[in-house]
Amino acid sequence: MKYLGQALVALCAGFFDFVAADASTFSPARPPAIPLGVKSPYLSTWQYAGSDGGNGGYLAGQWPQFWAGQIAAWTGMIRVDGTTYTWMGAPGPQSVTQKSFEYTSTKSIFTMDVGGVVEMNITFLSPITPDDQKRQSLVFSYLDVAVQSLDGHSHDVQLYTDISAEWVAGDHSSVAQWDYGTTSDGISYHKVYRQTQLLFSETNDQADWGYWYYATQNTQNLTFQSGADTAVRGAFESNGVLADTNDTNYRPIDQQYPVFGFSSDLGYILNSVNTLYTIGLAQEQAMQFDGATGIVPLTSLWTSYFSSETDALSFFYNDYSTSSTTASALDQKIATDSIAAAGQDYLTITSLAARQAFGAVELVGNLTQQYLFLKEISSDGNIQTVDVIFPFHPILVYLKPELLKLLLDPLFENQESGQYPNKYSMHDLGAHWPNATGHPDGADEQQPLEECGNMLIMTLAYAQRTNDNAYLSQHYNILAQWTEYLIEEALIPADQISTDDFAGSLANQTDLALKGMIGIEAMAVIANLTGNTADAANYTNIAHSYIEQWQVLGIAHDATPPHTTLAYGMNDTHGLLYNLYGDAELSLNLVPQSVYDMQSAFYPTVNEIYGVPLDTRHNYTKNDWEMFTAAIASDTTKQMFVKDVAAWIDQTTTSKPETDWYDAITGGYGGGFTARPVVGGHFALLALPT
Ligand SMILES: *[C@@H]1O[C@H](CO)[C@@H](O)[C@H](O)[C@H]1NC(C)=O
Ligand SMILES: *[C@@H]1O[C@H](CO)[C@@H](O)[C@H](O)[C@H]1NC(C)=O
Ligand SMILES: *[C@@H]1O[C@H](CO)[C@@H](O)[C@H](O)[C@H]1NC(C)=O
Ligand SMILES: *[C@@H]1O[C@H](CO)[C@@H](O)[C@H](O)[C@H]1NC(C)=O
Ligand SMILES: *[C@@H]1O[C@H](CO)[C@@H](O)[C@H](O)[C@H]1NC(C)=O
Ligand SMILES: *[C@@H]1O[C@H](CO)[C@@H](O)[C@H](O)[C@H]1NC(C)=O
Ligand SMILES: *[C@@H]1O[C@H](CO)[C@@H](O)[C@H](O)[C@H]1NC(C)=O
Ligand SMILES: *[C@@H]1O[C@H](CO)[C@@H](O)[C@H](O)[C@H]1NC(C)=O
Ligand SMILES: *[C@@H]1O[C@H](CO)[C@@H](O)[C@H](O)[C@H]1NC(C)=O
Ligand SMILES: *[C@@H]1O[C@H](CO)[C@@H](O)[C@H](O)[C@H]1NC(C)=O
Repeated sequence: MKYLGQALVALCAGFFDFVAADASTFSPARPPAIPLGVKSPYLSTWQYAGSDGGNGGYLAGQWPQFWAGQIAAWTGMIRVDGTTYTWMGAPGPQSVTQKSFEYTSTKSIFTMDVGGVVEMNITFLSPITPDDQKRQSLVFSYLDVAVQSLDGHSHDVQLYTDISAEWVAGDHSSVAQWDYGTTSDGISYHKVYRQTQLLFSETNDQADWGYWYYATQNTQNLTFQSGADTAVRGAFESNGVLADTNDTNYRPIDQQYPVFGFSSDLGYILNSVNTLYTIGLAQEQAMQFDGATGIVPLTSLWTSYFSSETDALSFFYNDYSTSSTTASALDQKIATDSIAAAGQDYLTITSLAARQAFGAVELVGNLTQQYLFLKEISSDGNIQTVDVIFPFHPILVYLKPELLKLLLDPLFENQESGQYPNKYSMHDLGAHWPNATGHPDGADEQQPLEECGNMLIMTLAYAQRTNDNAYLSQHYNILAQWTEYLIEEALIPADQISTDDFAGSLANQTDLALKGMIGIEAMAVIANLTGNTADAANYTNIAHSYIEQWQVLGIAHDATPPHTTLAYGMNDTHGLLYNLYGDAELSLNLVPQSVYDMQSAFYPTVNEIYGVPLDTRHNYTKNDWEMFTAAIASDTTKQMFVKDVAAWIDQTTTSKPETDWYDAITGGYGGGFTARPVVGGHFALLALPT
């Protein structure tokens, strides 16, 4: 049945390639949604591609969208010898012919054929700079458009782009305001913003404060215009130039949709000519945080490096060549390591995940004190959710463990200063980004066993990779407190939810119990590293005693083949044993190799076309947990997982930014999750000790 399904999919794909002569190629895959500008929770614009809401992966003919679904109109048109074409969005004119699309970890690149006479290379670059906080702190992204003749003759070319005010607030009946200016070093920009700034407020997950900048170089042949969409785009379509005028009728975003356009007259061109644009958001105040001294506002980190928003803009614009080189080096590193770990299919998975993962975090603070905050995008907007940081964290362990510390610090700071009343670890630092205002009433979502285990595992992972034992000493008391909780609760877990809360609560969850036991053993190592050797001996005794009992309670030994269960004694159930990952990540050797081998032999017997279901209750799965499981599996089982998830990326009908929760048989949604940071877990294979 399964093989027939795969053959059918391959057949259909081949068939459409054949009939659609103008079809674009997609390399390494046609993702569910294509990242365009994806740099932070608020700069997150995509082209939906999957068939349930997208157009198959074409830049022209459909509007780009914010991750939550709202249109973020971003327009591209080109006039060649007097004929106007659309290359991005849906302003009206005929579309260029998309020849190819390619993504890397930091770039999305389209190649277009314009009327058979001109070629365009359109590159969207959202930099990821784990080693460079100054650059990482900027909420800006690049759009580079290269144009050249295809037929050996020169052609008269004008290039147009705009953004609409839909970018600047989630309530599209709110009033936008704007201005136009040029920096002293010649960067021209449209500045657009919500007229009434509502600090730290969101509507439909878009920010209600801050200033958007759409910019390009002020060349002699640049014209600009703000005004109604039909007027500005119409001016370009008919003349190829804009009026250099400023519409001062500030009005609701959805009233005669104001747009902010640039037109560049490139003249007669033969060889490749580049035009660079940047889009970005400047918010001086980033969030509120309930830290050691109570609730304080925190500034965006970029404000420590730049004296004004336009200084930041100029720096970013002029940094393109450096930024592009740095981005290519990161692309190459991820490519080399991914291919070495599990081949091209694995690179298809990791390179799609990188921008989405980093697009959920933001650096805040100042030069003496930095924090990294994470938004639980789409599932609820919680801030610093511990069981979302956990599936996300392999990308940081791989690229920059020091950034993991900056994520954990606010959680320690809040709880160690007594702002959280429960003896177990908190679930999150606030019900909605950007308010990390804590839970002084202790009434956050209860995942006590999950979060205590997560904090212990991630704290040790950071310290092991950086040899920062002082960090372990600094937080020893609260880590020991959480370990006490695990000692009481991990062996026989009470009826409770796990991180997969949508699946409901259950007693005696085998995988959850394992996380708790691994947490206790992690604390034994922490105790050793901090000179608390008596504690270490005690904790490791307890962890080993528990794991012996767990192998009796949690394994269906008589099943063929044997496997761990979803919950103790439920011998006809199974699930992904993804929490075993922590044992390998931390080199604990708590769990015998026989358990790894047993699971590796078992998974292929319950595999579906797009992976192994999360557990026996449903057909859906989670691709973050599939990659955790793959990372610790035998070579053939690892390849099975990787192949399934890569095929899913290419074939899924889902069109939102990569969901982590999907049906393993149909490839459709498991629920509504989209754009979540947990895809950082796709780097699980690269975060294991070498
Ligand atoms: C697009 O990129 C390809 C590959 O790098 C190059 O050969 C071609 O000249 C580029 N086209 C333009 C318009 O710059
Ligand atoms: C646009 O209009 C605003 C408000 O009248 C004004 O402050 C600004 O200088 C104008 N900009 C241009 C380029 O005309
Ligand atoms: C954050 O808190 C402020 C009050 O301090 C409130 O106005 C705002 O709506 C909150 N933001 C969100 C997204 O809940
Ligand atoms: C401006 O356009 C003219 C003709 O339209 C062209 O000759 C010239 O090279 C262009 N200048 C720049 C800086 O693009
Ligand atoms: C830096 O941030 C920390 C933490 O929010 C704050 O206590 C400190 O005053 C700030 N320092 C400066 C120079 O702004
Ligand atoms: C959990 O497992 C233990 C050990 O097998 C058993 O004694 C207990 O009844 C189970 N709890 C539930 C609610 O099934
Ligand atoms: C703690 O250190 C002792 C002495 O080196 C060692 O025998 C023991 O295995 C260590 N325990 C853990 C849990 O690492
Ligand atoms: C070991 O830890 C348990 C749980 O914290 C505690 O009850 C016990 O007294 C400890 N034993 C020793 C020898 O420290
Ligand atoms: C599950 O299987 C184990 C052996 O693997 C057996 O001891 C136990 O009784 C079984 N439990 C049930 C509820 O059938
Ligand atoms: C999985 O899907 C199959 C085929 O649609 C269906 O028969 C089965 O009931 C589903 N299983 C679960 C656990 O929902």
